[in-house]
Parts: sequence; C-alpha cells; structure tokens
Amino acid sequence: MNASTNRKWMLTRRPVGLPKRSDFSFETAPVPEPADGQILVRTHYISLDPAMRGWMNDARSYVPPIPLGDVMRAGAVGEVVASRHPGWKAGDHAVGMFGVQDYAAADPAGVQRADPSLAPLPLFLSVLGMPGMTAYFGLLDIGNPQPGQTVVVSAASGAVGALVGQIARIKGARAVGLAGGPDKCAYVTGELGFDACIDYKNDDVGRGLTKNCPNGIDVYFDNVGGDILDLCLARLARRARVIICGAISQYNNTGPVKGPANYLSLLVNNARMEGFVVFNYAARYGEGARDMATWLGEGRLKSREDIVDGIETFPETLLKLFSGENFGKLMIKAV
Ligand SMILES: NC(=O)c1ccc[n+]([C@@H]2O[C@H](COP(=O)([O-])OP(=O)(O)OC[C@H]3O[C@@H](n4cnc5c(N)ncnc54)[C@H](OP(=O)(O)O)[C@@H]3O)[C@@H](O)[C@H]2O)c1
Repeated sequence: MNASTNRKWMLTRRPVGLPKRSDFSFETAPVPEPADGQILVRTHYISLDPAMRGWMNDARSYVPPIPLGDVMRAGAVGEVVASRHPGWKAGDHAVGMFGVQDYAAADPAGVQRADPSLAPLPLFLSVLGMPGMTAYFGLLDIGNPQPGQTVVVSAASGAVGALVGQIARIKGARAVGLAGGPDKCAYVTGELGFDACIDYKNDDVGRGLTKNCPNGIDVYFDNVGGDILDLCLARLARRARVIICGAISQYNNTGPVKGPANYLSLLVNNARMEGFVVFNYAARYGEGARDMATWLGEGRLKSREDIVDGIETFPETLLKLFSGENFGKLMIKAV
C-alpha cells in the first residue's frame, strides 16, 4: 500500500440475507486532508461486529442506515498521523467509528483515547472497548446478578458472551454458556471458568439447560434470539431478568424475525425482559473500563481476539461472525 492512498470499502447495495462481496466496492482514493478541528487517523485494527449487518439495512434503528456509496461504518483503533485539533497530536492513539478504510479524517467528538502502554491496541476493541462495555453494563446494570444466582449467556465464546460469564463469576454468580462446538465449549469452561457450557450445535439445549440450571435461570443474557431465547424463557426462575443484547440468529433472515413464543413465562415468573444499546452508557464508559482493566490486570478476566490480516478480506471476514468461524473478538489488522 502506498502511504498517500486510502483503500476503503464502500457499501454499494443493501444485502439480502448474508452480505456478499458484490454488495460492496473496494476503492482507492487519496488520503483525506483533515479539516480544521479534525484529526487524521491511520487505522491499525478494524472491529467487525454483528451490528454492522443491521446498519446495512434501510430500516429505522438506533443509528441511521449507512447511506449507499458511503464507507462501511466500523469501529477501529489507530494512530493520529496529523491533527488540526488542539487536544490531539500526531502519535496519539484513538478509538472511534473510523470505518473500513486505511485512513479517516474525523471529528474528535465521540473519539476516545487509547494508551498502548496500558494494553495492546486490539484490547481497546474488545475487553476495554465496545464489547467490554456491552457485557459490563448489560449484565450489571440490567441483569444485576446476585451471588449464587444462575446467569446463562449465549454466544458464550464470543466477544461479549465470554466477558458476561466471567463478570457473572466475579460477582459470585454461576455462569452457564451456550456455544457452537466442542472446542468453543472446552474453552468456555476450561479457560474462562464457566460452570458449564452447552454445545447447542450437537447437544439437546433444553435438556442441557434443565440439567445445569436446577433452580431455573435468574439472568439470561441473549445474544442470539430465535429458538435459544424460547428455550431459556421456558426455564426462568422467579423475578428473572432477560437481557436482549442481540439476536444474531435473526440478522440475515429474509423473512420475519422469529419472536419468542414462550413470553408468558415472564408473567408467571414475575420476570422481565429488557433490551439495551451500549452507546446509551457512553457517559459511564470510564467506570466500566476501570473495572474491566482492574480485573484484566488481576488475571480474573481473559480476553481472546481473532485477528485477520488485510483490509481486502473484509466481506469474507465479516461472514465468520454468522457462521461461527470466529473464535473471540473478530477484527481486521489493517497495517
Ligand atoms: N446491544 C448492544 O449494544 C450490543 C453491542 C455489541 C454486541 N451486541 C450483540 O451481541 C451479540 C454478540 O456479539 P459479539 O460481537 O460478541 O459477536 P461474537 O459472539 O464474537 O460472534 C458472533 C457469534 O455468534 C454465534 N452465532 C452466529 N450465528 C448464530 C446462530 N444462528 N445461532 C446461534 N449463535 C450464532 C457464533 O458463535 P457460535 O460458534 O457459538 O455459534 C459467532 O461466533 C450479537 O448479537 C451482537 O449484535 C449488542
């Protein structure tokens, strides 16, 4: 790559079902000039997140859809290479929505600092970044797990799920994960210390939940939706909290989203179900990052990153999230 060119992935078509390479175009342009008040960031790691699929749709959501012809929206961490903002200088490191591209000229409002002397840069996209804050605030603020209670989390080996179970354990709760395949389950119980993990691709999920949650589920942190949400609803304890974090099993549906048939379990168990968007906690990220960094430093929290080389792989690498081929927080190493 030439230091004067910017390679970028543009969204050119709204995908139907799983995104395809032909829904994007890979373009080369001159490196942008930062305007007055902006910084120019060289991206080093680009975060690939299930939410990107929703941002491609022309539908009302918590953020506007990506306009066709725009750079594909993505979080990233990189180095400031030029600054026209008094608060930033070349050599600083920054985390923000810089997009799937080599360089971004960005307004620093909403951009956070990353200190590579505190942690390797990829961790600012995982445990110390958006997935970390999602696990922390979703579980603690909405789920409020108590010692001895049972927390169930789906996509348990992934960026958010792995942290949810570990935080649940730190708070004295039991953690039961659901993950696809024996390797992921072995990691969830062996490395991450969950009390149990159900291999939803090979085992009977209902039976696994009944066996591992003998007093019912106090907190279900849902990352997948669909059938697994229904099976968990059917096993709630009294006053359970169901946290709707995501529904990855539904994101590429071409038909209607599968809703929960067993929702009356909320009624009979005096339970509640609540969704959330992590960005609503932005004002409290400092608090979350402090606790997560402390637990990481104490060795009580483990983080795993799945780093794929090369921005040119973007469309195929993104699909790993939906096939379950990623193992840990998925990101692209740009340089
Ligand atoms: N509410 C928020 O603010 C917020 C913020 C961040 C993330 N999220 C949500 O959190 C969830 C997890 O995100 P992440 O970044 O941590 O991703 P991730 O778990 O690192 O990766 C996605 C995983 O989802 C699982 N999966 C894929 N298709 C599935 C299906 N059809 N049924 C069941 N599991 C499936 C796969 O794991 P297996 O191999 O185990 O199947 C895959 O590895 C997503 O739903 C995402 O949208 C929400």
